[in-house]
Amino acid sequence: MAKQPNKKNQEVETTGHQWDGIEEYNNPLPRWWLWTFYACIVWALWYVVAYPAWPLVQGATAGYKGWSTRANVAVELAEAEAANAEINARLASVELTEIAGDPELQGYATSAGNAVFKTWCAQCHGSGAAGVQAGGYPNLLDNDWLWGGTIEDIHATIAHGIRNEEDPDARYSQMPAFGDILESAQIDQVVNYVMSLSGEPQDATLVSDGQAVFMDNCAACHGEAAEGDIYQGAPNLADAIWLYGGSFDTIKETVIYSRFGVMPAMGGADLSEAEIRAVAIYVHQLGGGE
Ligand code: HEC
Ligand code: HEC
Repeated sequence: MAKQPNKKNQEVETTGHQWDGIEEYNNPLPRWWLWTFYACIVWALWYVVAYPAWPLVQGATAGYKGWSTRANVAVELAEAEAANAEINARLASVELTEIAGDPELQGYATSAGNAVFKTWCAQCHGSGAAGVQAGGYPNLLDNDWLWGGTIEDIHATIAHGIRNEEDPDARYSQMPAFGDILESAQIDQVVNYVMSLSGEPQDATLVSDGQAVFMDNCAACHGEAAEGDIYQGAPNLADAIWLYGGSFDTIKETVIYSRFGVMPAMGGADLSEAEIRAVAIYVHQLGGGE
C-alpha cells in the first residue's frame, strides 16, 4: 500500500482507494468516539433487558424493572385518592345541608363535582349544564325544577336517577298518552290552553274549552295553575320553559303520545357517595339551587 505524509508529516496508510488521484487515508477512529460508541452499545443492551423493548403480538417484553406508564398513573391516582381520603370521608358523612356552611368542604365539593360532571353528566346535560334544548334533557342552571331543587332533592335525583329500571328507588311517574283518552278536538283545545299559559295569543274559544279539558285531565299532575308538581316530576307548563318544546306541534305530540325521560342511577357501582355529593353540590351552586 502506498504511504503518504499526513498533516503532521507522519506516514499514514491509505486504504488504497483512489479517485482521480484523490486517496483515502486509513486513520484510526478517535478514541473518545470509539468509547462513546461502545458505551452506547452497552447501554442499549442494558435498556433492552431493563425496560419494555421488544414489541410482541400483545404489548412488549416487560423488562426486569417492571416499569409501565399505566402502573405509574395508577400509583399517582392512588396517591391523589389517599391525599383526599380524609376530606372525601367527611364529605360523605356530614349532613347534606351542612356542607354549604363549611367553606373548605364546599370549595372542595364544587371543584370535585365539576370534574365528575364533565365525565358523567355533560353528555346529556351539556358541558355547561344548560341541557339540550327541546331534547328532554333539562337545563340545570335555572330554578325551574322537575323533581325539586333543594340539595336533598338534587342528591336523590342523582343517586337514584329517573324512570330507570336498575334502581328501585328511581324517581318515577308516567304521563298518560292522551291520544287514546281524549277526542282529537279536545286535544287541540287543551294544547291551545297550555300555549296561552306562556302568554302566546291563542283562539279564545279553544282556550276556554281547553281550560275545562285541562282541569279534568291534567291539573291532578300539573296543578290547577299548571305550576307543576315536583312530587310527580310534572313540569310547570306556565313558565315558557320547555323540556321538550313549546310549539303547537310539539305540545300536541307530548299530549298524544306522552314522554318518558330516563336518567340512569349514578349511585351504586358508578359514583361513590362523596362523588354524588360533590356533583350535587356543584349542580346546586350553579344558580338554581333552592
Ligand atoms: C343518559 C342521559 C343522562 C345522564 C348521563 C345524566 N342525566 Fe340527569 N337527567 C336526564 C334526563 C332525561 C332528565 C329529565 C328526566 C325527566 O324528564 O324527569 C334528567 C334530570 C336531571 C335532574 C333533575 C332536574 C330537575 O329539574 O329536577 C338533575 C338534578 C340531573 N339530571 C343531574 C344529573 C347529574 C348531576 C348527572 C351526572 C352525575 C346526570 N344528571 C347525568 C338525563 C341524564
Ligand atoms: C299522571 C300525571 C300527568 C298527567 C295526568 C298529565 N301530565 Fe303532562 N307531564 C307529566 C310528566 C311526569 C311530564 C314529564 C315527562 C317527562 O319528562 O318525560 C309531563 C310533561 C308534559 C308536557 C311537556 C312539557 C315540556 O316542558 O316540554 C306537556 C306539554 C304536558 N305534560 C301537558 C299535559 C297535558 C296537556 C295534560 C292533560 C291533557 C297532561 N300533561 C297530563 C305528568 C302528567
